Amino acid sequence: MRKEFSDCYDLVVYQIYPRSFMDSNGDGIGDLGGVLSRLDYVKDLGANAIWLCPIFKSPQCDNGYDVSDYRDIDPIYGTMADFDALLAAAHERGIKVIMDFVANHTSSEHEWFQRARLSKNDPYHDYYYWADEPLTDWRSEFGGSAWEFNEPTGEYYLHSFAVGQPDVNWTNPKVREEYAAIVDFWVGKGVDGFRCDVLDHVSKDFKKGLRRNGPHLHEYIREVFGRDHLTNIYTVGEAETTEESILATCGQDRRELKSVFQFSHLMVGRQGKYTPVPHRMDEVKDIVEGWERFTQERDLLYILLTDNHDRPWFISRTGNDRALRYECATNVATAIFLQRGIPFVYEGQEIGCANSHFPDLSAFNDVECLGYYEENKGKIPEATLLEQINFGSRDNTRRPFAWDGTPNHGFTTAAAPWLPYASRADEINLAADLAAERSIYRYYQQLFALRRERVALRRGKSTQLLPESKDCYVYLREHEGERLLVVCNFERAQSLDGLPEGRLLLTNLDRAAGANGAYAPFECAVYDLTK
Ligand code: NOJ
Repeated sequence: MRKEFSDCYDLVVYQIYPRSFMDSNGDGIGDLGGVLSRLDYVKDLGANAIWLCPIFKSPQCDNGYDVSDYRDIDPIYGTMADFDALLAAAHERGIKVIMDFVANHTSSEHEWFQRARLSKNDPYHDYYYWADEPLTDWRSEFGGSAWEFNEPTGEYYLHSFAVGQPDVNWTNPKVREEYAAIVDFWVGKGVDGFRCDVLDHVSKDFKKGLRRNGPHLHEYIREVFGRDHLTNIYTVGEAETTEESILATCGQDRRELKSVFQFSHLMVGRQGKYTPVPHRMDEVKDIVEGWERFTQERDLLYILLTDNHDRPWFISRTGNDRALRYECATNVATAIFLQRGIPFVYEGQEIGCANSHFPDLSAFNDVECLGYYEENKGKIPEATLLEQINFGSRDNTRRPFAWDGTPNHGFTTAAAPWLPYASRADEINLAADLAAERSIYRYYQQLFALRRERVALRRGKSTQLLPESKDCYVYLREHEGERLLVVCNFERAQSLDGLPEGRLLLTNLDRAAGANGAYAPFECAVYDLTK
């Protein structure tokens, strides 16, 4: 195992969407004080790192992914003193803090852009991409052309995302220096890592029509993250994930990123963002297993995840989020989080949050789904559009955390939160989960405790068993004589035979028998095979 990775395998990261986690000042928006007040909750779950989605100063057109000052905290979240207090409190508890690094674009209200847009002669003009006519026919990720006219200079600027998120010109060495200095600012404060937003977009090639993965990507990443003093800083990038590009970004001696996300298993159950298609859990298994093999053989870190703030809930798409919600949530967590890699839990996943259903658009905020609506209204029947948005909107996972079943769900004292609670928040909330006979949160605690206690689950080699079976995911984790068997049955009740027998360590149902025998839908179990 690569030396610089060994500690990474001990991480369990809890992703926080700060606006929706916990409100401490009664304005209906989650904030840093709220996060601080819930650090013990995160620790009790078994996580030892938090990734904070952007908390920097921002007009919030994309909920913080439009940064207007990288060195300041947005007032809706608090102050720099609140951040310092949070960082200290996290470190006191042994929790690392990972910041979001948003470097492909700034907000149009960032001082750089405010100056750049006024004059071609301003030194900041060259911090962005300008053209007399759109250079490409690219569409913005959030709808409409990716080029926007700028009156004062008579030019168009590029925005891969919202109009308020102009793309930054990384071919300008000054821009790269700026971002390196921003990284140093936060490292100087003591943060432990960065999650790098759409990092592969920072190098483009207009002539070749390349919006991302341009010719200079790797040298740019090295310029910022390959510097000696960052050796112990954890990094995870959003970047293209072909085998070739993962190797190029995370391979030994590349001095770029420690890891990148791999999202392709999250497309199972949908076509594009808004259309459901029949799902099969074995598709998820096959994709995950393929990446497990690839990363293990090359000694690369792999990220274990099923949910984040950019996708609707995984169990709603791939499982049964009604009658078998507990079974699905615990089964998926076992299948994914005991594998070789770094678990990333997204807030609410640990209580089995599921998608919402709302009768009209007023319950939505996500710039992406609202852009989709605008582009398609009149072309797709209204009722269908609304169904699609309910299915695919990123708001599904961005709704305020329901801590209990009271009217404001223990999230805020304000009359209403910034975004309506999930439509099933009366049923799915932390208090209800803890009071249930079977609690998803408590199961997660046991799962991560086991991962902590058993080195084989962190550092061990992973080998898939029963690879031909479509209805279950079974693997061994082994390290220096310690051998653990993980058995996750999918939705068909079946008998699994031919597996090695061992001592039962963990199960999500009432399993008393060994690894061989009948498994109920979504039943899972972990056995100790160590001699
Ligand atoms: C990826 C982020 O996760 C997403 O939330 C955001 O909208 C885009 N990048 C643009 O920054």
